[in-house]
Amino acid sequence: MSRKRVAVLISGRGSNMAALIEAAKAVDYPAEIALVLSNVPGAGGLAVAAAEGIATATVDHRAYGRDREAFERAMQAVLEAQRIDIVCLAGFMRILTPWFVGRWEGRMINIHPALLPAYKGLDTHARALADGATEHGATVHFVTPGMDEGETILQEAVPVLPGDTAESLARRVLEVEHRIYPQALRMIATEYTLL
Ligand code: GAR
Repeated sequence: MSRKRVAVLISGRGSNMAALIEAAKAVDYPAEIALVLSNVPGAGGLAVAAAEGIATATVDHRAYGRDREAFERAMQAVLEAQRIDIVCLAGFMRILTPWFVGRWEGRMINIHPALLPAYKGLDTHARALADGATEHGATVHFVTPGMDEGETILQEAVPVLPGDTAESLARRVLEVEHRIYPQALRMIATEYTLL
């Protein structure tokens, strides 16, 4: 079995990235985490990945001003140099252009802390609580040009509990994220191997 080479794109602490790294240690996992790429210099996840012996790279979006495609071309060059097959967005907080999304059509997935199509965008936990939602959750989906759109791969709900704060709800949703993201990557990497 040839394992798919995966790049995880992060902007922060990278707890979902760490969950993917852990899962990929299983001998029968169909993907290896070959690269962790951050748009934020010094993002916490970079040190975690480096400590695991994984190649890391930083492409600082600020160096490209408003030229989103120039930023993405720089990322694309790193991804191609590392012969990446699949891209996982894991708390990567940049909107991607149709150009970049098109390069990775069917091979780029994202995790979002909500039951999409509900609560696209930011502050999902606080918004769900403010609406009196009785359940919330997480979704892994293919990336398309529309933000937090694209076909769902896996989704799991968590109940909203009495007294929940955005923080307590986020903690429980994160546990789900750490479980379903590795499962979704396993599915995609397997399917892609069979193509
Ligand atoms: C996660 O909760 C992820 O679902 C969310 O950012 C957090 C990153 O945490 N992503 C989005 O909101 C994307 N729209 P992590 O760096 O610990 O994985």
